[in-house]
Amino acid sequence: MLACGLTSRKESPVNLSIQLAPKHPQGLLLTNPVMTASGTFGYGTEDSHLFDIQKLGAIVCKGTTLEPRDGNPQPRLVETAGGLLNSIGLENIGVTALIKEKAPIWAGWRIPVVVNIAGETVDDYTQLAGRLDGVAGISGLEVNISCPNMKAGGAEFGANPDLAAEVTAAVRKATSLPVLVKLTPNTSDIARVASAVAEAGADAVSLINTLKGMAIDITERKPRLGSITGGLSGPAIKPVALYMVYEVAGAVDIPVVGCGGIATAGDALEFIMAGASAIQVGTASFANPRAPLDVLEGIEQFMEKEGINNLSELVGVARY
Ligand code: SIN
Repeated sequence: MLACGLTSRKESPVNLSIQLAPKHPQGLLLTNPVMTASGTFGYGTEDSHLFDIQKLGAIVCKGTTLEPRDGNPQPRLVETAGGLLNSIGLENIGVTALIKEKAPIWAGWRIPVVVNIAGETVDDYTQLAGRLDGVAGISGLEVNISCPNMKAGGAEFGANPDLAAEVTAAVRKATSLPVLVKLTPNTSDIARVASAVAEAGADAVSLINTLKGMAIDITERKPRLGSITGGLSGPAIKPVALYMVYEVAGAVDIPVVGCGGIATAGDALEFIMAGASAIQVGTASFANPRAPLDVLEGIEQFMEKEGINNLSELVGVARY
């Protein structure tokens, strides 16, 4: 055992590394494909006593806005069959506190930290990208045009290829960092949106964010969530997410990061075989904070058992 109760892990004989921004001058090299999904792992600092989080590929922090936000009215979480509805409303500390309090901690880490940014206007995204550019400890941006819990902006941008491209181009211009764009499933053609953001300068896309949903308390005769609707995540959405990753990976020539109901290494491998270069573990971390590490170790074991030396050999192998 190491200090802090962390267990040691022997060096992996397989190559799990992945370049998430191959067209970017500096790139975004991950030692492995397992990332945390925004909003499910705080700022990475909260769970760092539970396991060595720096063994993961990258951490994506909570959606960050220009000003701090208190979020939506309670209740904000409802469990559903195989899933979780949330209407957090992007409660976060705001970009100024993130730069002052979190980035200096990340600067001492070897794991890349990607900051998820969210706004109500294109100008919000531009300002956020500008503020975060060149800040030590930040390795990339994930542009959140997919949060279903904001009154304006957010998923409105992600549902429309032209607006999605406009936000992406504005962020691209405002930062020298690698830019990922997080897509919403709440649109008629996610592959078209993905193509539009790729053309506008995104280095990678991540998908999917939550599916818009709701639940009703029949005794109270009213919606269970304080803001009526929310976003559904967890195992219930995995087949939808997998299908969308498959579609998008066939439409763009930039890396795709798969997300949506991934709880096991088997889930992650399905996304990788559908064409994802990396994956994000989200809701599973609420029940098991070690879930991202379990997923990583399971991928390694699978590769060793199957005699696969490089993760890239698995990316897209189930595509027809
Ligand atoms: C929220 O804070 O409401 C969820 C964030 C998201 O869906 O991007």
